[in-house]
Amino acid sequence: MRKKIIAGNWKMNKTPKEAVELINMLKTQVDSNIVDVIFCVPAIDIIPAVEALKGTKIAVGAQNVYFEESGAYTGETSPAMLKECGVEYVIIGHSERRQYFAETNETVNKKVKKVIEHGMTPIMCCGETLEQRELGVTIEFVRTQIKGGLAGVDGEDVKRMVIAYEPIWAIGTGKTATNDQAQEVCGAIRTVVSEIFGKEVANEVRIQYGGSVNGKNAAELFAKPDIDGGLVGGASLKAEFGEIVNY
Ligand code: PGA
Repeated sequence: MRKKIIAGNWKMNKTPKEAVELINMLKTQVDSNIVDVIFCVPAIDIIPAVEALKGTKIAVGAQNVYFEESGAYTGETSPAMLKECGVEYVIIGHSERRQYFAETNETVNKKVKKVIEHGMTPIMCCGETLEQRELGVTIEFVRTQIKGGLAGVDGEDVKRMVIAYEPIWAIGTGKTATNDQAQEVCGAIRTVVSEIFGKEVANEVRIQYGGSVNGKNAAELFAKPDIDGGLVGGASLKAEFGEIVNY
């Protein structure tokens, strides 16, 4: 049985002071005994978030990382920096980073490998645009993202990874994929993982759905056989996140 994993993606919201306030509110509402819970906070909030979550089972995640160890990369954060601050998970290749910051399957792949090398868990994102869905190329497109992102990664490491399927048209739009649409693509992701790494790896890797997950639709989505939890944006900044986690 795969343990469910629910991650909040705060995106570029909350100053360090606001982050601590939100954590203090949410940590009393979130039951992290049955599911894994992660708050993926802005880089500047990581240190206060780790401090505020001491004594709980809630983990802290980052939203990005660079794939070099150190050096002349102005503005970037290295994997060792994140690790030392207490980061356990790193979102990689979110569609907003692909769209606004030129993230590609190649850079996603380099980051996935670096994060694993530093003992953290990648949450690797994939997902199609509305145009691709309407053209009927969703599965093909997502398969390419998975193959590119996981190229050369060891199967044993893939087992411990998280993959987040987030249709771009469902992110922040209030338009959730239907349970069947989400299941279809999450199932196809497990199939491609199985083709590359074998059944055992495919059975263990956790696959999240993301895109307008809320307190009302979470339970039905997470009941689908290939959906092991969610990556939650907007609703992770409110008390509603507690409802999602305690679905
Ligand atoms: P949303 O964002 O829940 O606000 O749609 C999801 C995400 O981008 O991870």
